[in-house]
Amino acid sequence: MEFELSEEQLAVKEAARDFAQNVLKPGVIARDTEQRFPTEEIKQLGELGFMGMMVDPKYGGSGMDTVSYVLAMEEISKVDASTSVCMSVNNSLVCWGLEKFGSEEQKQKYLAPLAKGEIIGAFCLSEPEAGSDATSQQTSAIDKGDHYLVNGTKNWITNGSTASVYIVIAQTDAEAGHRGINAVIIERGMEGFIVGAKEDKLGIRGSDTHTLMFNDVKVPKENRIGEDGFGFKFAMKVLSGGRIGIASQALGIAGGAFELALAYSKERKTFGKEIYKHQIIAFKLADMATDIEAAKLLVYRAALDKDSGRNFDQSSAMAKLYASKVAMEHTVEAVQIHGGYGFVKEYHVERLMRDAKITQIYEGTSEIQQIVISRGILKD
Ligand code: CAA
Repeated sequence: MEFELSEEQLAVKEAARDFAQNVLKPGVIARDTEQRFPTEEIKQLGELGFMGMMVDPKYGGSGMDTVSYVLAMEEISKVDASTSVCMSVNNSLVCWGLEKFGSEEQKQKYLAPLAKGEIIGAFCLSEPEAGSDATSQQTSAIDKGDHYLVNGTKNWITNGSTASVYIVIAQTDAEAGHRGINAVIIERGMEGFIVGAKEDKLGIRGSDTHTLMFNDVKVPKENRIGEDGFGFKFAMKVLSGGRIGIASQALGIAGGAFELALAYSKERKTFGKEIYKHQIIAFKLADMATDIEAAKLLVYRAALDKDSGRNFDQSSAMAKLYASKVAMEHTVEAVQIHGGYGFVKEYHVERLMRDAKITQIYEGTSEIQQIVISRGILKD
């Protein structure tokens, strides 16, 4: 077994850390408070090659491995999970989905500008009545010969108003269950496509989450991804990869909270000494460090599975389940270590605590990860 990162991977980690600390950190509290999307910051991430990290350079990507992507996600999430969720959806769900399953025409037309960061993508699966139960799609894509007629509503869509390209999961044949579902590419500006209300969220407040409405949107047949009826399996496969992105986001949030708590514990004095010299604080830090290291091993393992061509459905679900739990528990501890200061925005940990919660919900709740894991271990 090899636990060392390569020089290239370390360079990616360093570049991401530098960007997070110097570019993202100065404005992160204001963006969170004002619910302001990081437009300029995402543009810069595109210029750094971080919006299509794993995409083949022939389609405008950076041609890096998943481990490098995880390292970049981790460093960026230590500071700004609103920026990293946009990056994760674009890289894992949209770019990877198109590169792996899209046609050559779709790759030329959509993947190349997405991978270069010239435009942003969104992945639209969730509906008012279909979140965890993803086969219950009410959005329809009715076959009209040379096009699909799409009708319905999607909820909680990350990059909802900032994307240009939307991968929409919809039911073509309700009788056929999951085999009647298709994934189609809808462009911003297509007639009948309306961006609805923005969500006012607990966390990741700088990210752009919207309801979307589709009223008789005519989508050309060539915009379907894969064979007729492949949409559900496409969504499941893409979400397995997406869960590696969200697991690395959770890992970063936990790591960011740990770094802040450690630094604070060396500055703050109570009862005549720095608080890290009190065993109660030292033990909290020891538990945080241990759990974060364990989460890291699971997340990197899932990335390595994907890079090695092994099945990563199980390892990505385990990584997301565990890393999100660690993020939630230890951001609460980081606030506790900061005492009253942890409760105010200036010290950053309260934001990380709010941001941590969504990692247990999106791209499959913790309970969904438990379903995936338990089915895997019980299948024989
Ligand atoms: N890869 C390929 N195929 C898969 C698969 C995978 N990972 N998982 C399941 N399938 C296939 C199955 O083999 C089966 O095919 P066959 O019938 O041909 O054998 C088919 O898909 C149906 O599978 P299941 O019977 O297991 O389906 P299910 O209805 O029981 O659901 C589930 C399984 C795991 C609960 C699934 O519904 C699920 O993952 N739900 C959560 C959805 C989710 O993550 N939503 C998040 C929204 S996206 C988001 O949050 C993005 C964002 O903005 C940040």
